[in-house]
Amino acid sequence: MKDVSKISAREAALELEYIAKEMAKADVAYYQDDEPYLTDSQYDALKLRNELLEKRFPELIRNDSPSKRVGAPIQSDFKKIEHRVPMLSLADIFSKSELEDYINSIKRFLNTTDDIEFMVEPKMDGLSFSARYEHGHLIYAVTRGDGKSGEDITENIKTIKCLPQVVLNYEFPDIIEMRGEVYMSKADFFALNEKNKAEGKKIFANPRNAAAGSLRQLDANITKQRNLSLLVYTWGDVSEICWKSQSEFLKKAKIWGFPVNEYNKLCFHTSEIMDYFENLEKIRSGLPYDIDGVVYKVNKLDLQARLGFLTRVPRWAVAHKFEAEKAITRVENIRVQVGRTGALTPVADLEPVNVGGVMVSHATLHNEDEIKRKDIRIGDYVVVQRAGDVIPQILSVLKEKRGQNVVEFEFPLVCPECGAHAVRQEGEAVRRCSGGLSCPAQAIESLKHFVSREAFDIEGLGDKIIEDFYQDGILKHPDDIFTLEERNNGDDLFFNTQGLHIEQRPGWGIKSAQNLFKSIKDKRKISLPRFIYALGIRQIGAATALLIAKNYGDFDNFYQAMKMGDISKLLTIDGIGQAMADDIIEFFKEPHNIDIIEKLRLYVAIEKFEDQTNYNSPIAGKTIVFTGTLESLTRAEAKAKANSLGAKVAGSVSSHTDFVVEGKDAGSKAKKAKELGIQILSEDEFLRMIG
Ligand code: IVH
Repeated sequence: MKDVSKISAREAALELEYIAKEMAKADVAYYQDDEPYLTDSQYDALKLRNELLEKRFPELIRNDSPSKRVGAPIQSDFKKIEHRVPMLSLADIFSKSELEDYINSIKRFLNTTDDIEFMVEPKMDGLSFSARYEHGHLIYAVTRGDGKSGEDITENIKTIKCLPQVVLNYEFPDIIEMRGEVYMSKADFFALNEKNKAEGKKIFANPRNAAAGSLRQLDANITKQRNLSLLVYTWGDVSEICWKSQSEFLKKAKIWGFPVNEYNKLCFHTSEIMDYFENLEKIRSGLPYDIDGVVYKVNKLDLQARLGFLTRVPRWAVAHKFEAEKAITRVENIRVQVGRTGALTPVADLEPVNVGGVMVSHATLHNEDEIKRKDIRIGDYVVVQRAGDVIPQILSVLKEKRGQNVVEFEFPLVCPECGAHAVRQEGEAVRRCSGGLSCPAQAIESLKHFVSREAFDIEGLGDKIIEDFYQDGILKHPDDIFTLEERNNGDDLFFNTQGLHIEQRPGWGIKSAQNLFKSIKDKRKISLPRFIYALGIRQIGAATALLIAKNYGDFDNFYQAMKMGDISKLLTIDGIGQAMADDIIEFFKEPHNIDIIEKLRLYVAIEKFEDQTNYNSPIAGKTIVFTGTLESLTRAEAKAKANSLGAKVAGSVSSHTDFVVEGKDAGSKAKKAKELGIQILSEDEFLRMIG
């Protein structure tokens, strides 16, 4: 091991990364799996090395540095507690017309034309909890979890001062679960981030994340330092209900000593409800905490009982979501990134700004026409919008605020990474670097794609490692991955610019090098769809690769046809059009690509594709769109399942969509489906449908 005083900053950075990861793994093994794999002294040695390196290079201290971890890591094995009454979510609506539809549907259901009383409440953007009281004493508190069971956060919630731990009121039921939201005020969120920044600790993206990170701490002392708040808005299991409406419950909750939202309002007429929404949207940014909409609840419990529940949500309540939030900020720079296929994508670096609780410092500019169309220039003040998880967008430029020296942005005509010509084909919006794999950016992105999760899925070859290995000449092409071990272990090898073998590189050791070689070896057998996808042919995503695999069955069939330029079969595949076929043929015309494929075939066995699709399933031939967060399976699983049952999974809703499966917090896709009159299924309904 090199002496810390002789190490370069680059080496130190790599080693710090290695130590952070190694110690994080060791922590999981120790705290969560109860299976330590480092001895105490090995662990301490890493800790000490980390300390020394950080002392010499304080600017390299990482956010995930072990030196910043206080106490135990965030627990993923909190004790699970089953909810006696499930914690449901709410259906979302997004517009006034949907609100009208909702109210009308309630009236129809109840067979009345009278206005219905609604309790209208801000929708808090925090984490829901359920706190169980028995005979006036707080017994335990749980997170929502999957709605059926959650995590035991009793010790943590006890540190939140506004939650009474003992309730002495004769009306307080013997047993009751008080439910509501834990949140962090905007002021506390900013203060926490300021403090963390000064101390080089974790910066939270928004108050909700900060609240979640603070509540789910093994060490409740940390929760205590974080200034969390909470309020209640409903109840779960209860021994006796001595209130007749939501408004009465909220009144009692307040008397019992629980915080309730001061903006809750009982509305008697539809017009009042509409006004409430508009007003709250106006004052939203000035509220001390984040809200993301308004919840409407039928007030009377007898009506609630008649209305009942749909699969996962009550019929008697609905959440009306606010539109995406906007903010004004300044464009500090416009950068042009080069992707795997050479596409030049402009990105705006922004003066960081809080947009709806999230700090935004970049926005995509799509392509050069978009910059022209909106006339976005470096130095301009712009309106940015963030909707859901999508990359923030620039909506418009405030021309009146434009400075005198602000000049039009000139889109580069050469690749900013390799200097090759950047060409724009007729009819295409993107300009592309013509350097092919001789362009380092394209080569690196291709390598990243090759090892990515849906391709070869090689663990241990993260983005940073690919970049370093590429720069040092260890990996230039995908096939180099499979000769890595051999080249590394050969004696005559001048392995990289520093003449180091992998295990000698900063941040590496014998064990980590061996792990890498093992994970590469494990991928010497690969499924046909993965292999086709890994090639990185333009426009050929994982779904198209699967279609090709299904239709050709084995790589040779596909390969020979493509080399001959025979696209007849390709064009018969539903989902592959002329443009895609052209790109595929183009790919196989390139001698360099053929060379790589030939080399890869020396090292990897490509399995034949056996089609196990069930074409008799109820969803065979249908086009499905998934939206929101699914609870019982991941998106990838849902997609795989749907594909295996013969369905096509699309990314966006169109008139070709047969149905939309809606998870939690679904946004614009569900809305569009409603507009197009496309059937929407809940996750449960979908699962039942596919058996
Ligand atoms: S009532 C059966 N009231 O929104 C209905 N929920 O999308 C129970 N939320 O999981 C929920 N503010 O975390 C209710 N005033 C409010 C709320 C609220 C925020 C959250 C809650 C729930 C989610 C549903």
